[in-house]
Amino acid sequence: MSLLTYRLDDGIAVIQPAQAASSADFLPELPALVQRAQGEAAAQAVVLAGVFGAWAAEPEPAALQRACESLQAPGKPVLGAVEGAVSGPALQLLLACRWCIGGPGSALGFPEVKSGLIPAPAVIEAALKRMGAQETIEALSGGNFLDAARAARAGLLDALGETGLEAALAFARNPEDGDQGPEDDAATRAAPPPDAAGYAALRGKVRARVRGQLAPLSVIDAVEALSSLPPAQARARVAALYAACREGEQHQALRHVAAAQRAAQTIPGLAPGEPLPIRTAAVIGAGTMGGGIAMSFANAGIPVTLLEVSGEALERGMALIRGNYEASVQRGSLAPARAAAALQRIRGATGYEALSAADIIVEAVFEDLEVKREVFARLDRVAAPQAILATNTSTLDIDAIAASTSRPQQVVGTHFFSPAHVMKLLENVRGRATSAQVIRTVMQLGQTLGKVTVLAGNADGFIGNRMLMFYGLEAEFLLEEGATPEQIDRVIEGFGFAMGPLAVRDLAGNDVGLLIRRSRTLPPDERWSPVLERLVAAGRLGQKAGKGFYRYEGRTRLPDPEVQALIESVSRELRIVRRPIADAEILDRLLHPLVNAGAQLVEEGIALRTGDVDIVYVNGYGFPAWRGGPMFWAERSGLERVVATAQTLARRHGARWGPSAYLVRAAARGGWGEA
Ligand code: NAI
Repeated sequence: MSLLTYRLDDGIAVIQPAQAASSADFLPELPALVQRAQGEAAAQAVVLAGVFGAWAAEPEPAALQRACESLQAPGKPVLGAVEGAVSGPALQLLLACRWCIGGPGSALGFPEVKSGLIPAPAVIEAALKRMGAQETIEALSGGNFLDAARAARAGLLDALGETGLEAALAFARNPEDGDQGPEDDAATRAAPPPDAAGYAALRGKVRARVRGQLAPLSVIDAVEALSSLPPAQARARVAALYAACREGEQHQALRHVAAAQRAAQTIPGLAPGEPLPIRTAAVIGAGTMGGGIAMSFANAGIPVTLLEVSGEALERGMALIRGNYEASVQRGSLAPARAAAALQRIRGATGYEALSAADIIVEAVFEDLEVKREVFARLDRVAAPQAILATNTSTLDIDAIAASTSRPQQVVGTHFFSPAHVMKLLENVRGRATSAQVIRTVMQLGQTLGKVTVLAGNADGFIGNRMLMFYGLEAEFLLEEGATPEQIDRVIEGFGFAMGPLAVRDLAGNDVGLLIRRSRTLPPDERWSPVLERLVAAGRLGQKAGKGFYRYEGRTRLPDPEVQALIESVSRELRIVRRPIADAEILDRLLHPLVNAGAQLVEEGIALRTGDVDIVYVNGYGFPAWRGGPMFWAERSGLERVVATAQTLARRHGARWGPSAYLVRAAARGGWGEA
């Protein structure tokens, strides 16, 4: 049976996949049908409709090329009717048509850079012809989807209508109503390509945004080549750029991250079954986290009750939420109607009886075990029998919280990251008694909320914060030995993190960091560096005080000789002879402990696999995705190096810093050896 249908519609030949085409299997049939349409006396134009989606498998390149060529052959014009969201080879096929016509729900996208690639050369060329250099660079280097209106404004779509097909038929009958196709666009609509200085400026802008990721810069190189070199030379250059991305490490790293995000949904040994439906939710505490968590539910279409201790506290929290939505609308990232609908879904309350209908209740009150236990004891009395009782604690023992209820099997950790409506990571934490059904439900909930979801065991700091501790401590030890805050942050930001560890401390507040530190006890063979304490004593609380590891002019951080003097005095007291420390040593000493701690978590079963550790770091802590996460990066750069650093640091800082057995075994094998 043929995979394509062919019909005449009042003088227009319409070619359409027989079924919704999410595969490219019909491609080999296309040239013959286009030829038939070209020979059809009664047809004045050809419409290719019903091609959409990202195809499940890559089409055979030769088949795709032949199909595109058939659409471009001289003769009657071929129109592509764009339906839904189109990207990749499906987009290539549509852009090969003389005109592209869209319905209101259509979107054209260039997501390739998100997996470390650039779009196929033919797509870049077509986009450039239609949109000009500036728009092409912006859309392709950002991995953007353009909605129908924007695509039409940019010249990627030639016309819009009720549906792509209807609009294409109307356009085919009266093409003079529109423009004359991409060649015409290039002449009239697209802005002239930038000059050399313009390209340099664009590169600078993109480089600052992507921090070391190569594909977005390759997009610029490709556009510049196509705009300035003779065609054959330009095409060779673009093909080389395309191949380099495809074979490059960044593509592999990003593929690893995507695969790890999928794999994290599988929980070995978990009894199979259905998740519980989450129709309504409640959040307790409308502070920094509670407000963001409530927004996450509301944005996903789930009505949510937000509980506070008083009307006043509630109003403060609701004002923050309203402000967040207003800011999103002003930025243009959220349509006003969607913001209003989401806000409508958040209902404030001050009495616990308002929680009785919720399928899940997420507690986000102060980080204090006694306060939380009291809240959970009250929840136990009012919550529906099936309700999931979740805590957003970042450090406390889930089992101790669960023990204040009569239903510990329904208690679980749902650790969101700040700001909770923006950050992608959800670290679910399994308590000793948490039921399989509750775990399945919170894993599914992560998907519903659009989060990257990981399951962690109940241990101090779970996955992310436990690893972070070593990284943070080592930054201070490096200061004692001779590094400066600027050097440390420069090295980490140069690696691709959005912010270095000391800039992050200043942002979070050094008093907050010190408070957390004071609530902990170190093993007897370890010590804290006194640097943090001295900063706090000197009133250097961080950005909010205008000074911390840096001094601040607005948000601009500047090195401060006072901090340098303070650090040097610490070195003297500790009788450490300061020395210049190479950037490479700084990088190893900060990242290797992170990797070692990750391996230790897998060894202990707190993390299920090294891939989970990677996605926690990429989505919650700013580790550059294009490096694949700490565990992937370490495997590529040599696990034996991580072992060596851990051995050195164990001698200096204590046994806990020594290489974990899991790491040592993996290093001997030359890789993590996980499926
Ligand atoms: P916050 O201090 O901004 O907000 C806490 C809110 O809870 C306040 O509005 C307070 O009025 C309310 N509250 C206190 N007791 C209550 C009770 N009995 N009933 C109802 N409301 C009550 O605190 P934040 O930062 O939002 O933290 C909340 C929880 O989230 C803590 O467990 C914290 O460790 C955790 N967390 C915080 C992160 C952050 O970056 N701030 C990140 C991840 C987790």
